Amino acid sequence: MQQEAIYVSEPENKEEFTKDFNKFYTVFARMYDLATKIFPFWRRWLKTTIPHIQGPKVLEVSFGTGYLLTQYADRFETYGIDYNEKFVEMLQKKLEQRGQKANIRQGDVQNLPYEDEFFDSIVNTMAFSAYPDGFKAMSEMHRVLKSDGMLVMVDIDYPHSRKGVGMLATKAWIAMGDIIRDMGPIFRQFNFEFTDEEIGGFGSVHLFIAKKC
Ligand SMILES: C[S@@+](CC[C@H](N)C(=O)[O-])C[C@H]1O[C@@H](n2cnc3c(N)ncnc32)[C@H](O)[C@@H]1O
Repeated sequence: MQQEAIYVSEPENKEEFTKDFNKFYTVFARMYDLATKIFPFWRRWLKTTIPHIQGPKVLEVSFGTGYLLTQYADRFETYGIDYNEKFVEMLQKKLEQRGQKANIRQGDVQNLPYEDEFFDSIVNTMAFSAYPDGFKAMSEMHRVLKSDGMLVMVDIDYPHSRKGVGMLATKAWIAMGDIIRDMGPIFRQFNFEFTDEEIGGFGSVHLFIAKKC
């Protein structure tokens, strides 16, 4: 039987939401990195983005400990931004150890320090649901993306069937604090053409490929 997909309202105190999560990421940064290394399914979800990235200029917003960025940085002129300073430090070290180049920095998706229409692709995984203001975040990513550029996202949503274990999985993500949004209307509002494919988590993890029109 189909169930109702209830999406999550944005928090009232957006600054506090970001700061609280940021404290959590700082404390558990090493564990987060380990989890990315240990769980093959997590790496598999992130890597579904790679065939859809087009260059030359690629920005990853909210790279976390940077596993995904290190997988494609050699192929593109790569930039990255994340709110968490510890994550920036950790990725900088990884890049140095691997002899890779990428222009990474600390910053906020709500105020991206790049010119309009600068990037050919933006990569964003498991992060949109961590932003307290979806409109501001999407406005900024849209602004810095070229016309015909690709926004390649992995994030949580309800399974298309609205049935089964996937519904429980999505609710578990929500219980952990994720702000799950109905992405279709958001992409349409910004005039993106998009596809939405379930890639794991019993249908709770989706790959969104959105082209800026
Ligand atoms: C769940 S983690 C995902 C990390 C990584 N992309 C992955 O898939 O494993 C969410 C990430 O969003 C980042 N983040 C949260 N709020 C942000 C903001 N306002 N601006 C930029 N990054 C932010 C966090 O620092 C964290 O790296």
